[in-house]
Amino acid sequence: MSATLSAVPDVHIRETECFIDGKWVPAVSGKTFATINPATEKEIAQIAEGDREDVDAAAKAARHAFDTGPWSKMDARDRGRLIYQLADRMENEIDDLARLETLDNGKPLKDSRNVDLPLAIDCLRYYAGYADKIHGSTIPIRGNHLCYTRREPIGVAGQIIPWNFPILMAAWKWGPALAAGCTIVMKPAEQTPLTCLRMAQLAKEVGIPDGVINVVPGFGPTAGAAVVKHPLIDKIAFTGEHRTAQIITRESADTLKRLTFELGGKSPNVIFADADLDAAAMGAYIGLFLNQGQCCCAGSRVFVEKKQHDAFLEKLQRLAENRKVGDPFAEDTEQGPQVDQAQFDKIMSYIDKGRHEGAKCVTGGERVGDKGYFVEPTIFDNVQDDMSIATDEIFGPVLSVLTFDDKEDMIHRANNTFYGLAAAVWTRDISVAHEFAARVRAGTVWVNCYDVFDAAAPFGGFKMSGYGRELGEEGLKAYTESKTVTIAL
Ligand code: NAI
Ligand code: MG
Repeated sequence: MSATLSAVPDVHIRETECFIDGKWVPAVSGKTFATINPATEKEIAQIAEGDREDVDAAAKAARHAFDTGPWSKMDARDRGRLIYQLADRMENEIDDLARLETLDNGKPLKDSRNVDLPLAIDCLRYYAGYADKIHGSTIPIRGNHLCYTRREPIGVAGQIIPWNFPILMAAWKWGPALAAGCTIVMKPAEQTPLTCLRMAQLAKEVGIPDGVINVVPGFGPTAGAAVVKHPLIDKIAFTGEHRTAQIITRESADTLKRLTFELGGKSPNVIFADADLDAAAMGAYIGLFLNQGQCCCAGSRVFVEKKQHDAFLEKLQRLAENRKVGDPFAEDTEQGPQVDQAQFDKIMSYIDKGRHEGAKCVTGGERVGDKGYFVEPTIFDNVQDDMSIATDEIFGPVLSVLTFDDKEDMIHRANNTFYGLAAAVWTRDISVAHEFAARVRAGTVWVNCYDVFDAAAPFGGFKMSGYGRELGEEGLKAYTESKTVTIAL
C-alpha cells in the first residue's frame, strides 16, 4: 500500500483569527500556531494562538450578549429561525466546508461531505425547532398557591471540542446552546480549528448577534484552561480524553461550573454465533475503522462466540485488507491519515505492545507510505482481556478480537472496563439482544447495527465515559436551569 497524494483541490482558507464579539482579531499576545495537513505534514495556515486575555475578552462579550444584548430579548422563535439559517448557509457551502474539514483533519472527503456535514446540519435543524418549545410545568403544591417552573438558559457556555469530528462537535455544542438561549465561548482543538472558525463567520453573516458565539483557537492548557476557570462562564461542555476531564473537574471547582463531558471508550461489540455473520463483520469493520478509528464510540473490543470465530475473522480480515488507505481527497479513499504525529506515535506504540503481549496481528500493523500519518487497518486476534490493547483507548485503526463461549462470562468481561460509552450485540435471538442491552453498562447500545447516530437520540457515557448526555431533549436540558416560581393566591 502506498499513499499517493494528488494536489489538494482549491480550498479557501479565510478565517484564522479569534472571533470575539462579532469581530476577527489577532491574539493579544500576537502569537500564532500552525495547523497541519495530516496527509502531507505540511503547514496549512498560521492561526491566532488565543490565551487567557483573549478568553477573557470572549467571556465578557458572551456575558454581555447574554445579560443585556439583543439575544437576551429575542423571541424564542426568532432565535430558532437564526439557527435554521445557519444550517441553510452551511448546506449552501457544504462542498467548501467538507474540503476544509478534510484538509485540516485528514478524513476522506467522501465522509466529510456525506456524513459529517449532513449530520452537523441536521443537528442544528433539530435544535432550531426546539427553540420555541422549551417550557416548564405547573405543579399542584399544597395550599392556595400557583406554582410553576421555568426552563431558563444556563448562561455563558464554555465549549471545548476535539479534533476527530470538528464540525460535527461544533454543531452538537452550538445547536442546544443557541436553542436554549445561551451564549458561547468555544475553544476548538488546536489540530483542527479551520471549520469552526468558518462556521463562526457564517453565523455572523446570517445575523446571529455579536457576542453570542465567540471562538478562541489555541491550546488546552492555556486557552482551554482559561475557559474552564473564567468566573463569567457558567458551564463547560467538553469532549475529549477522560484525563483532561479530570483536570477540568478540578480546575472548575472554584467556580462550581455545571459540567457535561463526553469522553472516551473501549466499547464491546459482541457477535453471537447465530448472528448474520456478513452483517456482523461489516458492523465490526465500520464500528472500528470509521474515521481512521478516531471515534469515542469505536467498537474496539470485538467479542465473537468461539464456534464462529474462524468464519467471522475471515470475513472481517477480508474487509480490512481491501480498505483503501490514501489521499483523503481521492474519490475512492476510505481511510485517510491519523490527525497528527502524537496520535500516530500513540497508535504505533500500541501495535508494538499488542505484538509484545502475545496477541496475533493478522493484518496491518505498519505505517503506510513515508509522508503523512497513515496507518494500515490492523486486526489483532487472540487478544486477552488484560492486554493493553484490550484495556486502553487506542483511537486508531486497531481492532482487537476476543472470544467467548459463555454468555454470563462475556457480559461480565464486556463490563469489565472503567469506560461505558457504547456497546453492540449481533444476534437473531431477541431475548439475548434485550438481555445484553439491559445488562451492559453503556450509554448507547446498538443491536444488529453500529454507529447509528441521530440528533434526536441522546448520546453519552456511563462510568468514566462522561457526565450527562448530548443530543435529544436531554442534550438541550443540559443548557438550562430550572426555576420554581410560587405565587400566593
Ligand atoms: P484532549 O482531551 O487533550 O483534547 C481535547 C480538547 O481539550 C482540545 O480542544 C484540547 O485543546 C483541550 N484541552 C486539552 N487540555 C486541556 C486543559 N487542561 N484544559 C482545557 N482544555 C484542554 O485530547 P487529545 O490530547 O487531543 O487526545 C488524546 C486522547 O484522548 C486520544 O488519543 C483519544 O484517546 C482521546 N480523545 C477522545 C475523544 C473523544 O471523542 N472521546 C476526542 C479526542 C481525543
Ligand atoms: Mg491532550
